Amino acid sequence: MDSSPLFTRAQRVLPGGVTAAARANPALGQPFYVARAEGPFVFAADGRRYVDLCMSNGATLLGHGHPNIVAAVRRAADFGFACGHDGEPQVRLAERLVEQIPAFEQVRFTSSGTEATFYALRVARAATGRTGVLKFEGHFHGFNDALAFSFWPGLGEAGPPDAPHTHAETAGLPPDTAAQVVVAPFNDATVFRRLLDRHGDHLAAVILEPINYDSGAILPDPTFLATVREETARRGIVLIFDEILSGYRTGPSGAQGYLGVTPDLATLGKALGGGVPLSAFGGRRELMDLVAPRGPAVHTGTYNAHLIPILAAHAFLDTISEVRFYERLLGSHERLYCGLRVAFAAAGLPVRVQGVGARFGLYFGLDPERAITTYRDAASIDKVMQHAFCREMDTRGVYVAPAWHHGLCAMHTDELVDQVADLAERSARAVAAYAAPAGG
Ligand SMILES: Cc1ncc(COP(=O)(O)O)c(C=O)c1O
Repeated sequence: MDSSPLFTRAQRVLPGGVTAAARANPALGQPFYVARAEGPFVFAADGRRYVDLCMSNGATLLGHGHPNIVAAVRRAADFGFACGHDGEPQVRLAERLVEQIPAFEQVRFTSSGTEATFYALRVARAATGRTGVLKFEGHFHGFNDALAFSFWPGLGEAGPPDAPHTHAETAGLPPDTAAQVVVAPFNDATVFRRLLDRHGDHLAAVILEPINYDSGAILPDPTFLATVREETARRGIVLIFDEILSGYRTGPSGAQGYLGVTPDLATLGKALGGGVPLSAFGGRRELMDLVAPRGPAVHTGTYNAHLIPILAAHAFLDTISEVRFYERLLGSHERLYCGLRVAFAAAGLPVRVQGVGARFGLYFGLDPERAITTYRDAASIDKVMQHAFCREMDTRGVYVAPAWHHGLCAMHTDELVDQVADLAERSARAVAAYAAPAGG
């Protein structure tokens, strides 16, 4: 894709020519500007059609412009969408989520995931009277000040693997914010217990991605997750599952339903809104009772539970409850994972394809057979190879973001999945050819 004229214009009025840092696209050297999208396809600013493996960073799980979502958005327009009021659709959506998500006894809506994790932490602080939070390296929770640490630290600045540094991911944080954040390695129960022994009395919350898609697709070890649940309960620390990304990837009850572990609070987002901005936080009644006006922890906002995303979320939930929805969605992902493994092997490019349900990581330069279980494993990927692959796929009409996670939508057909695998093999061969030493 070449969108240079638009990039030139954009850079005059938008920092870096983008409206979000993650849209910069270092693989292409310019943002991937999109003119329109349809089902499993995005159309670039120059009109070229791409098979989309990004799917709005996971927000459009049904597909771009899915007819059910579009109809819901139109209905909201018919109702005149007065902001700043609640009505039956908001109440009913809360009822549906409370029925579906194990942790939810009560729920509140926000627009972005960044807000949802921020408010979940506020509730945990109100509940415990403590301020500290323990998070895991490689887990992303949005860029709110309280949690903007150790998402993806470079290995040179991350500290020892069993005692990671609290690494600020942005400038502009108040200096005392870092002192509230303890960083732990994922899947290490021994270090987790040690950190709780040392910091537990100050911790309001432990927050984690129950499936760590923001470092590819890393499952928790069941014993580790059980330890996290037991130890937080024993010490009166609020356990928050950040399901902004993991929600709806494995089934309708979130990763918590899939893994059989229920946190005290959880967040949801992305897929829930069907591509329209909607997130949520919720949990046990006695915690949510602390939310104003019932309690002292204020959560409010003009755009909270706006009718457009609320009706879109109803349409999303209706659609995923159709017969065989998950069977088909998970089946097409498994088909892609197999196809990609065969493709990389045939091309002789070392890439680990690791997927859980409807989202997956591509670990370039790593042993295809070796499971990735921690951020430190994931962080040693070969980014030069990753970017080269993204570029090769771009020239063949497939959009692969230089990102940690990728996925299909419900509108990618088996035929399209097979085409993607075939184009991945050709792209991987091209990368392997110019990665090989001259004459080799
Ligand atoms: C696990 C997780 N939490 C929070 C966020 C932040 O959500 P948003 O981008 O809607 O602010 C993301 C976004 O990628 C996420 O993956």
